[in-house]
Amino acid sequence: MSQKDFDRILVTAALPYANGPIHLGHLAGAYLPPDMFCRYQRLKGKDVVFVCGSDEMGVAIMIRARNEGVSPKDIVDRYHPMITDSFEKFGMSFDNFSRTTNEIHSETSQEFFRNLAEKDVFSLKTEQQLFDPEAGMFLADRFVVGTCPSCGNDNAYGDQCEKCGTTLSPMELVNPRSTITDATPELRETTHWYLPLGDFQERLEKWIDTHPEWKPNVLGQIKSWLNDGLRERAITRDVPWGVPVPQDVAEKIGVDASGKVIYVWFDAPIGYISATKEWAKEQGKPEAWKSYWQDEKTRLVHFIGKDNIVFHCLMFPAMLMAHGAYVLPDNVPANEFLNIEGSKLSTSRNWAVWLHEYLEDLDPDLLRYALATMLPETKDADFNWNEFQTRVNSELADVLGNFVNRTMTFAHRFAKGKVPELVKPDALDQEVIEKLKTFPDRIGSAYDNYRNREAVFETMALARMGNKYFNDSEPWHSRKTNAQQCANTIHVSLQICASLAVLMEPVLPFSAIRMRKMLGMEGVRSSEPGQSKDGISWDDAGQCLLPVGQKLGESEILFSKIEDDVIEEQKAKLGGPEEEVETSEPYEPVKEIITYDDFVKLDFRMGTVLSAERIPKSKKLLKLQIDLGFEQRQILAGAAEHFEPESLVGQQVAVVANLAPRKMMGMESQGMVLMAEDRTGALSIMQSTGEDGAVIR
Ligand code: MF3
Ligand code: ZN
Repeated sequence: MSQKDFDRILVTAALPYANGPIHLGHLAGAYLPPDMFCRYQRLKGKDVVFVCGSDEMGVAIMIRARNEGVSPKDIVDRYHPMITDSFEKFGMSFDNFSRTTNEIHSETSQEFFRNLAEKDVFSLKTEQQLFDPEAGMFLADRFVVGTCPSCGNDNAYGDQCEKCGTTLSPMELVNPRSTITDATPELRETTHWYLPLGDFQERLEKWIDTHPEWKPNVLGQIKSWLNDGLRERAITRDVPWGVPVPQDVAEKIGVDASGKVIYVWFDAPIGYISATKEWAKEQGKPEAWKSYWQDEKTRLVHFIGKDNIVFHCLMFPAMLMAHGAYVLPDNVPANEFLNIEGSKLSTSRNWAVWLHEYLEDLDPDLLRYALATMLPETKDADFNWNEFQTRVNSELADVLGNFVNRTMTFAHRFAKGKVPELVKPDALDQEVIEKLKTFPDRIGSAYDNYRNREAVFETMALARMGNKYFNDSEPWHSRKTNAQQCANTIHVSLQICASLAVLMEPVLPFSAIRMRKMLGMEGVRSSEPGQSKDGISWDDAGQCLLPVGQKLGESEILFSKIEDDVIEEQKAKLGGPEEEVETSEPYEPVKEIITYDDFVKLDFRMGTVLSAERIPKSKKLLKLQIDLGFEQRQILAGAAEHFEPESLVGQQVAVVANLAPRKMMGMESQGMVLMAEDRTGALSIMQSTGEDGAVIR
C-alpha cells in the first residue's frame, strides 16, 4: 500500500527487445498487469501516463541480425511495427510506445551519461578483455559463452548465467568461446566506464528499507544481491550497435571513444524517460515530462518480469540517485515466470504462444481474461489451453455472458426494451443493491495493490452475484404472477450489468464497450489514454447507473463457447516438450547430520515388483507386491498420481526392508520403495539391478 498522497502516476512496462515477436510470457510478466492497472487508475480519474517502447540496442539485437545475415537496423525495423501492432490489437493502452533508436533517446541517454560523468560518478578502467580474432571484435555479453563459475552451467552467457541467475562479466567465464565464430578468445586491452554500484549500496539499502510493502519475491531477490555486496559494472561496450559514448566526455579525459557504445542496460531504462519526453512533445507540452519524473508527488511504478529485478531495483535507482533530479520507483511489482502446458517457455523450441498468432484466431479479451486468472504474481504459474477453455466457457460464457444475456432477453421481451421502473423493491432487491456498492472498492483495492488475479476474481464475483440474484428472483414466474416484481428484477439486473460494463473494463476492455452499447449506456469515462476525466467513473459504478426509461440496444452474444477442436489446434502449434527439469523452486534443505551408526540401522534391499494395482478410493496409493528373494512383501506406495501401475510390474526397486509395518486405508504396508522426488514434485523410481534380496549399502 502506498502511504503517500500522489498527484500523478507514471507507469512503465519493461521495454521488449525488438528481436522477436511478443509471446504470452511477455504479456503475463510485464504487459497485461500494467495495462489493467492503468485502465483502472484512469477510470478512477487519476492522472496516469503509461510508457513503453522497444528495446532496440544491445547484443541481443545484433545476435539475431547475425543469425539472419541482415543488419541490426533491419531487425528492429521488422519487429518494432510487429510488436506495436500486436500490442494494439491486444488492447495495450500505452500513452506512448517509443523506440530506443529514436533520436530523442540517444540524446537523453547521452545527456544522462554526461551528467554522471561530470559528477565523477563513474570509474574508468583499462584492462585485458576477450577478443575474437576471427570476427575481429571484442566479445561482450551474449557474444561469449562459457562455464558459469557459480553453478557449472556450460552455457552461461558473458552477462548472466540463466541457470543460476548470477550476473557475470565475460572474464569470469571458465573456458569461454565466441558465439559468433566458436573461436577461443584472445586477450586484448581496452578501456571502459564502470558504474561503481558498491558506492550506492548503503543508500540503496536505506531506500529499500522504506518499502517493506514490496512483493516478497522482489524483496527476496534484492536482499540477496545486497547481501552478496554490489560490484561495479561496466556500462560501455566495444560493439558496433548502440548509443555512442559521448565524444566530448571521452575527449575531456583523453580517451578514444570511437567504436564504443553505452551498455544496453544503461540506456534501456533511460528509455522510459525518453518515451515520456516524446509523449510530452506529442502533447504539445514539451516540458510536461518533467513533473512525471522529477516531482516527488509522482508515483512511479515499473512493471517487469523477475529477470529484470536487479536492473530496476538496484542499478537504475542507483543511476537516478547519482543524477539527483529524479524520483525513485514507488514499487516494482515484478512477476515470476509463466510456464506453458507445464513446461518452461522456450522460444528456441517454439514452446511459446505467440500473440500475433493467437490474435489471428481468437479474441483478445478472452486471452486477457484467462491470462489474468493465471498470472505468476507470487510464484511461477502455468498457462494451459484446457484451463483457457474452462475460463472462457464456464466463466465468461456461463457466468458473465449468460447473466447479461438473460437480463437483456427479459428486458426486451417483458420490459419493451427499456429500463423498467423499480417500485417497492423487496428485501432481495435491496440487499443486492447494497452489495453492489461494495464492489468498486473491493475490485479497486486489489488493482491498486497489484493483485490482478484477485481483482478479476472479484469482478467475476459481481457477475455471479447477478446470476444468483436472477435465479433467486425467478422472473420467469413473477412475470405471470406479479409483473412489477418481474420489472424490479429486470431493473436491478440491468443495473448490475451497467456496473459490470464499467468494472470489467480493465480486464475486458473490448467487451465492456460492446456491453455498454447493448445497454445504451453513454458518458462512461474512457480507460484509454488521453481522454477526458468527465463522465461516469469507477466509483460511480457502485450506484445504479441506468436511468429509468432508457432504451436498450440490441442484444448480442458477448462470449461464445470455445469448442475442443479450437483448443486442439492451438495446442498443436506448440513445439517439442522440455526434457530437463526447469524450476525455480528451492532445493529441499539437507536434514540434520546422522551418525554412521544411525545409517547402518537402515536395511535396504533389492526387490522386484510382482504386481501393482490402484486402491479404490485412494488417489495417491498403489498396492505393490514385491519379491525380496527371501520373502514377499505388500507395500503401499504414494505413487498413483505418477505411474501407471502396469509400468511398474517387473521393475527392480530399492526397498527399506526393516521399516515397522504401517496401516493405510485399512491395509498393511510392510516397507517402503525408494523414489526420488524432484523440485517439481515429479517422482522417479530408484532403479537397481542384482539379485532380489541383495543388501544395498
Ligand atoms: N529488453 C529487456 C528484456 O526484455 C527489458 C528492458 S527493460 C528496461 O529483458 F528497463 F531496460 F527498459
Ligand atoms: Zn550459474
